[in-house]
Amino acid sequence: MDQVTFGVVGSGFMGTVLAQVASELPYARCVGVADIDPLRARTLADSAGCEAYEDFRQMLSQQRPKAVIIATPEDLHLGPAIAAAEQGCDIFLEKPLATSLQDADEIVDACGRYGVKLMVGHLLRFEVNYAMIESAIREGSIGRFLSAYARRITPISESRRLRGRVSPITYIAVHDIDQMLWYHPHAVRSVYARAIRGRVWEELHTYDSAWLTIEFADGALGVHEVGWCLPEGWAGWSKPASWGGFGDVCMNVIGTDGVINLNFTPMNLYACTRDGWKLPDTRHWPKMEGKYVGAVKQEVEHFFDCILHDREPRVTGADGRRSVEVMLAAEISIAEDRIVELPLTQGSVAGPARHM
Ligand SMILES: NC(=O)c1ccc[n+]([C@@H]2O[C@H](COP(=O)([O-])OP(=O)(O)OC[C@H]3O[C@@H](n4cnc5c(N)ncnc54)[C@H](O)[C@@H]3O)[C@@H](O)[C@H]2O)c1
Repeated sequence: MDQVTFGVVGSGFMGTVLAQVASELPYARCVGVADIDPLRARTLADSAGCEAYEDFRQMLSQQRPKAVIIATPEDLHLGPAIAAAEQGCDIFLEKPLATSLQDADEIVDACGRYGVKLMVGHLLRFEVNYAMIESAIREGSIGRFLSAYARRITPISESRRLRGRVSPITYIAVHDIDQMLWYHPHAVRSVYARAIRGRVWEELHTYDSAWLTIEFADGALGVHEVGWCLPEGWAGWSKPASWGGFGDVCMNVIGTDGVINLNFTPMNLYACTRDGWKLPDTRHWPKMEGKYVGAVKQEVEHFFDCILHDREPRVTGADGRRSVEVMLAAEISIAEDRIVELPLTQGSVAGPARHM
């Protein structure tokens, strides 16, 4: 089978997961890893058997990969994405596409101009339960979409890992925003959000959780409860390591002719030892015999499949841009304590999200 060479920009948590999944595909080969943290770059490059770089431009120009996986922090997607597009690389870009509409538009425009594929890492579109909800709605099983309620609250360890660099809306809620826009592909009229400040706020100056109300132009509603404030005990069980606790997660959809409820908190598997109860992730990136399976494998395979067979990715730049707009509207709503009407103008900014 054809070899698709790829580079990685950003070898932190997600870059490492994605690179390992891609490296396990028989037709993909990692040729370079770039990270401003040389130790991180070297660690991942050594495990992939390729060169490490501190400068992504150097990696791109020396290795000339066919594709690139970009997993830099949320507000640092523009530079690597533009450089990769200019060089003709197909791009897998982690969510959110960007943290401003200006960056989002520049990325989408550059990918169009240079004729490269752009896929945004909205992982839930590759998780079978979420994808089944979408197909049921699309096929009319629950009639007209009326509302969706989604909860996604992670353990407090997740907010501590990011040390307050971003808000839970930008890091987490954008997943469920994308789902709601996928389930109900209609224009959004307005967004209203309120933030809650507790232990995370005191420690990191980013809010603990938030409630978002998304009003669609046809009157349908999406309500999302997001946060990263579950107590330490939720993810405190370290053995086996792959039993890392995921979070308190659900998606409930109501239509004129039916309802669909997804309860993702137990993830089908739970246990209790002397350390307490454990509810591990068995759906997004669990491991079997040291290899990632689950949605992340479907997602990465899909990206490479689109390259090999010249198909449009399931999550396009336009999809990513729509989610960014709602995400930004929620941040602005919290910062300015008002209902935010859409569409936003390109210059709309929420300010430093963690200081709201
Ligand atoms: N799809 C998902 O479920 C999921 C889960 C976690 C994170 N993410 C997303 O993945 C992206 C990365 O998040 P993370 O949690 O892995 O963060 P991280 O902090 O663990 O990793 C980011 C890495 O990027 C590096 N970096 C920063 N600037 C760089 C530059 N100019 N060039 C090269 N490397 C640079 C950092 O040194 C760091 O190693 C974010 O957009 C995040 O929202 C997605």
